[in-house]
Amino acid sequence: MYKEHISVLLNECKEYLLHKSNIDYLDITFGGGGHFFSFLESGQLSSAQGLDQDIEAYANGKKRIEESDFSKIAKIKHINFGSFLESNEVKYDSILGDLGVSSHHFDSDERGFSFKREADLDMRMNTTEGEKASDVLNSLDEKDLADIFYHYGEERLSRKIAARLVEKRKENKIIKTSELEEICFLAYPKHMRHKKPHPATRVFQALRIYVNDELNILEQSIPKLLEALKPGGRLGLISFHSLEDRIVKHSFKKAYQNDQDSYAILTKRPLVANDDEVSKNPRSRSAKLRVIEKK
Ligand SMILES: C[S@@+](CC[C@H](N)C(=O)[O-])C[C@H]1O[C@@H](n2cnc3c(N)ncnc32)[C@H](O)[C@@H]1O
Repeated sequence: MYKEHISVLLNECKEYLLHKSNIDYLDITFGGGGHFFSFLESGQLSSAQGLDQDIEAYANGKKRIEESDFSKIAKIKHINFGSFLESNEVKYDSILGDLGVSSHHFDSDERGFSFKREADLDMRMNTTEGEKASDVLNSLDEKDLADIFYHYGEERLSRKIAARLVEKRKENKIIKTSELEEICFLAYPKHMRHKKPHPATRVFQALRIYVNDELNILEQSIPKLLEALKPGGRLGLISFHSLEDRIVKHSFKKAYQNDQDSYAILTKRPLVANDDEVSKNPRSRSAKLRVIEKK
């Protein structure tokens, strides 16, 4: 069963990306299909191509498309958007990327994305390939682990956590979410252990980003996404943490500075969720949407 995912900034995405009629739409992060189907229901799409590297998101999406009224114009592919863009030649009027993981990932009992659920530390969005988080934790040396926690999690106690982890794994391999959670918790000084965010939050984020190579794929993909826009086409990217948002902001700025006649940044400041949305969906609190247009 695909777990429910509430789409973030849905109205803002529709306002900016449904800017004309007869839109050829590309959704590079299909997830639960919330944005995808809502865009289709507007009646403004000529075609809709969804992508997701998660096999469960893909299977759920394929079934829903087949059973919907949109089966003639909507398609979904099981692929990493980085790989899709390497050989894509189709041009689109609107492209949306709602980055990172879905609630389905966090709420799943098997995937190991959340320290709130006991599971094996896997964390791969695409479970058909690549190294699991536990492989990374049990094989990299202390310095590399500390660097991952620091660079991808902005964790200030990265070295202490990595040192503790390497000590612990001499006894037994680190396999379970609860084991990693405890290592982070005990690496924190007593007076900081019960403060928010939980001591394991940043390390779990860092590992997930590393396992899925999220930041490199995003940075390499943005120029290709811009190339995939038709004249007048728009690209919207929703990020969930500062590392991602920095990449989106700088890449859009670079495209504009290199060619001011060809691009317009439509969101001088990122769009964020209003109080009403945050109260209904706390996950939207950290979402930032930036939109660029190809002239
Ligand atoms: C935040 S969810 C998208 C939710 C969706 N917009 C909705 O409203 O239901 C992100 C999805 O993108 C997928 N994803 C993340 N990075 C990806 C990548 N590089 N290639 C393909 N899919 C990716 C994840 O597997 C996840 O299902």
